[in-house]
Amino acid sequence: MTPNTTQQHGALLSASRLRVRTVEIHADEVVLIDQVALPHEERYVHCRSWQDVAERIRDMTVRGAPAIGVAAAGGLSLAARSAREAGLDAAATRAALETAADGLLATRPTAVNLRWAVDEMRVEWSRCGDEPGHCAARLLARAQAILEDDVDRCLRIGRHGATLFAPGARILTHCNAGALATAGYGTALGVIRAAFAADPTLSVLVDETRPWLQGARLTAWELGVEGIPYHVISDNMAGHFFRCGDIDAVVVGADRIAANGDTANKIGTYTVSVLAKEHGVPFYVAAPLSTVDLSLADGEEIPIEERDPDEVTSFRGIRVAPEGAAARHPAFDVTPAANITAIITEAGVLRPPLEAALAQACKSEECG
Ligand code: MRU
Repeated sequence: MTPNTTQQHGALLSASRLRVRTVEIHADEVVLIDQVALPHEERYVHCRSWQDVAERIRDMTVRGAPAIGVAAAGGLSLAARSAREAGLDAAATRAALETAADGLLATRPTAVNLRWAVDEMRVEWSRCGDEPGHCAARLLARAQAILEDDVDRCLRIGRHGATLFAPGARILTHCNAGALATAGYGTALGVIRAAFAADPTLSVLVDETRPWLQGARLTAWELGVEGIPYHVISDNMAGHFFRCGDIDAVVVGADRIAANGDTANKIGTYTVSVLAKEHGVPFYVAAPLSTVDLSLADGEEIPIEERDPDEVTSFRGIRVAPEGAAARHPAFDVTPAANITAIITEAGVLRPPLEAALAQACKSEECG
């Protein structure tokens, strides 16, 4: 980072009032803020093994594409520590790490950041050589670097995206792509945070984001702490506000971006993109390049996680649909590149044709 960039990032961070650490990676534990308990309770979960981390990714204690990648990196550093404590030799340590990698990768299939982080860690353990004793320290340092790097990417995304809005913009966001979904600052919310630092007259419409309510619970919490004006709306109200001319721009995060720019994000994002196109409202995706998967030609190939239908028919143990009601629960959908005005990355704002822009950006930066 140049001194100028360091100063700009420092200014953005000090303008932010949110002081939460979504993921902390220590030698003997990975600490996660419990995103199921938020916003009513701020409590932390202490993971002491990679299996604990995997379970916490699966049950949504930690969620959001970059955050689960960072947590998985921390989980692998715990696996290396266990291997050292068990006195495993180099070959057995590598085998234990592969087992942990498989277990972590099996938790959630859509966000490619998880695979990206595991691959980064794999590069590190391939360098451990025949000295397993060094492996735990190396993997801990690498996991912590991945965490810090994610915050830096978010700050850069925020800086690039903040320039895109007219004064007083009313911005719609879907799900939570904030500090809680990353190692800090956020992608879509990072853009909104940075824009707000320059223009305190902007405001946000927050889709509640059924069925997990990441918008109503987590995005609203983050915006409230920041003092950014917002209104929560239920997902089915978005069309009304587009039609009334109350939305100037949309900014969302991403879980995986295919080579042609098709983008998987939280279920409901596609609907918002269609509304934005119909009403001539710019639709921005904000994501680090670790979310880009050039191995997939288009969005058809992105695996979509299907979660437990009970998460649709019930909320926090309270059943809302009749006993025996069948339900479907795709956790993500794909927004076609044609509906996306631009993708805001740490390398800059990528505009159509997105396929060429992504290929170019991935030449210089590491993509997922
Ligand atoms: O199921 P979740 O809560 O993990 O889904 C999160 C999203 O869809 C986010 O928008 C995406 O991961 C981007 S987070 C910076």
